[in-house]
Amino acid sequence: MTAAENYLRDYHDRKPDAMSVLIESGRVTGDGRTSYQVLADRVAPARNVLDLGCGDGALLAVFARNGAEKLAGMDLSEGQLALARKRPELAGADLRHGRAQELPFADAAFEAVVSHMAFMLMDDPETVAAEVARVLVPRGTFAIVVGGPDSTGATRVFLELARPLFREVPEERRATYTKERRTSERSGIDEVLAPAGFAPVSWEPYEIDLTASPETVWTLCCESFYSTDTLDEDQRTRLRSAFLAETERLRTADGRLPAGLSVNLAKTRLLT
Ligand SMILES: C[S@@+](CC[C@H](N)C(=O)[O-])C[C@H]1O[C@@H](n2cnc3c(N)ncnc32)[C@H](O)[C@@H]1O
Repeated sequence: MTAAENYLRDYHDRKPDAMSVLIESGRVTGDGRTSYQVLADRVAPARNVLDLGCGDGALLAVFARNGAEKLAGMDLSEGQLALARKRPELAGADLRHGRAQELPFADAAFEAVVSHMAFMLMDDPETVAAEVARVLVPRGTFAIVVGGPDSTGATRVFLELARPLFREVPEERRATYTKERRTSERSGIDEVLAPAGFAPVSWEPYEIDLTASPETVWTLCCESFYSTDTLDEDQRTRLRSAFLAETERLRTADGRLPAGLSVNLAKTRLLT
């Protein structure tokens, strides 16, 4: 495993349900579904689906509830997979521990491969793309949700206040994960996927609305960015005070705090 993969595995082993709690707390703005539901609906009616970086199985559980027949997932974090294995909907799912760069599945085994907020973190994405192409049926679907550059409302304020603190963290304690244009922007994703035989992606930006009480938004913001975990207690206390003071002006009449994360859904097919 690479240094970034070790970092992600350790982080998610320590916080195995943090991502699904964050995503299930939000609703796509103007839509009412969670981001997991939007992604699952985009690949319907695929009945045979692999989730790369499946985490605690929240997305696979949506596929199971939608009637998918054969489900598989792969993740670096055993802690998250242990939670996925406890989900009754995933009793028959094939959940594997390992790297998306080395898929232990047969050629042409899946109608669709999906990945929610994980492809953008993967090292060596060309190898992942080639593996996805190998395990897909001809003209099979690859659909991913990746993080966008913008955040809105209190999430934006959180990042503005947090970034200088992230820079104070000594090098050896910083969050070590990969995030680059080739796996988070449309043109970069096309560059990575084309050599593996995929058509250019369709691209759908949307916002995950996390509006809630100020305390809840604070917690969700902390879980949204890996680097928050690297702050020491004093930095975290300073950030929390500044965040609650700075966002007071944003509160709605009923005391809630508007907040959101921007994401993009990219979808493509194998050309043959
Ligand atoms: C931000 S979490 C998203 C988890 C889940 N997809 C969700 O949205 O709830 C990113 C996940 O990708 C996994 N991951 C990152 N790189 C991976 C790789 N190369 N192979 C398999 N899993 C990977 C991490 O272990 C982590 O569970």
